[in-house]
Amino acid sequence: MASIRILSAQDIAQVFTITDAIEAVEDAYRQKAEGNGVAWPMVYAAFEPGVADMDIRSGELAASGLFGLKLTAWFSGNPAQGLPEIYGTTLICDNANGAPLALLNASAITGLRTGAAGALGIKWLGRKDAKNLLVAGVGHQSAFQVAAVLAACPGIDHVEMWDPRKDEAPEARVAGIREKVDAMLKAAGIDRSYEIVAVADGEAACGRADAIITITPATKPVIRRDWVRPGTHISCVGADMEGKQEIESALDAAARLYVDDRAQSITSGELEVAVKEGAIAEADIVAELGEVIAGKAEGRTSDDQITVFDTSGIAVQDLASSKVAYERAVEAGLGVAVEL
Ligand SMILES: NC(=O)c1ccc[n+]([C@@H]2O[C@H](COP(=O)([O-])OP(=O)(O)OC[C@H]3O[C@@H](n4cnc5c(N)ncnc54)[C@H](O)[C@@H]3O)[C@@H](O)[C@H]2O)c1
Repeated sequence: MASIRILSAQDIAQVFTITDAIEAVEDAYRQKAEGNGVAWPMVYAAFEPGVADMDIRSGELAASGLFGLKLTAWFSGNPAQGLPEIYGTTLICDNANGAPLALLNASAITGLRTGAAGALGIKWLGRKDAKNLLVAGVGHQSAFQVAAVLAACPGIDHVEMWDPRKDEAPEARVAGIREKVDAMLKAAGIDRSYEIVAVADGEAACGRADAIITITPATKPVIRRDWVRPGTHISCVGADMEGKQEIESALDAAARLYVDDRAQSITSGELEVAVKEGAIAEADIVAELGEVIAGKAEGRTSDDQITVFDTSGIAVQDLASSKVAYERAVEAGLGVAVEL
């Protein structure tokens, strides 16, 4: 018999914050670089291309005693029926004996762990004097990116938000994002000042930015090579499936390139199209970010380099985050334990 704990979004929100996500993802990347974490190949299937699909990202975090998977199902017709467009479910298991430990609402963790990844790119690869952040993409994931950067990068205090699909500045949506960011910082006990503004001109905003996060589902690049000034760091977060690309291939070719997982980056991450076009080769990837965190590879080596971090999302982020949420939930008596 095995007892599995089932954790809802509300359970997780009580015990897991943006700071927890940053610490968990940093630890997961480090473990991967040290040979204790593995991302297994992603499984993807379209039920109806462009309408409904699912992917399974799985892996092991040996030093944390876990393996597991996250299943993300996307059904675009769901909102019309009053259902969520995305269902995410994570299963974590004990790697000593295979016993299932917990089944978690993955959506409650995905935004936080994805924000953590984008922010860790800036923390480890951005210039030390970086102050201005541009976020390209003003959708569901964007607030998590902003909150994580403000939590992980104390020098950044000015945020500009641009929607590449619109001609006007997304004022109302950015006001909503500010509320969400403030709530996430408050939940993590972080009290800091910052300004956040909506902008309409992406090119001009790139010219002011020290760090850029791209978080759109674009399949045509939204950031051009000649918009970006020397010394800028770019965390590319939106491209997580074959065919998506947010920055011009020429910008990859001009940058020092880092990834969360080499194999996934060139098959379904931001670098996939640039490699297929021949603008870059896999050998141009300097390192996985975990290797920089573990002190096994160099990050930025001068203030005028452009650095790119391609994070398409790997299971070790979810496993490390889920472990923290699970252990805290057990301590707090949250969730429902079910005998299987
Ligand atoms: N790397 C990861 O780990 C990870 C995790 C979760 C989500 N994602 C990806 O992040 C991206 C954004 O997710 P979201 O939930 O915030 O999306 P969303 O639909 O809520 O928002 C997307 C934003 O991008 C803009 N946009 C939409 N289509 C565009 C296009 N073709 N070109 C340029 N801009 C466009 C929208 O106007 C909006 O501002 C998606 O591609 C999603 O799959 C990645």
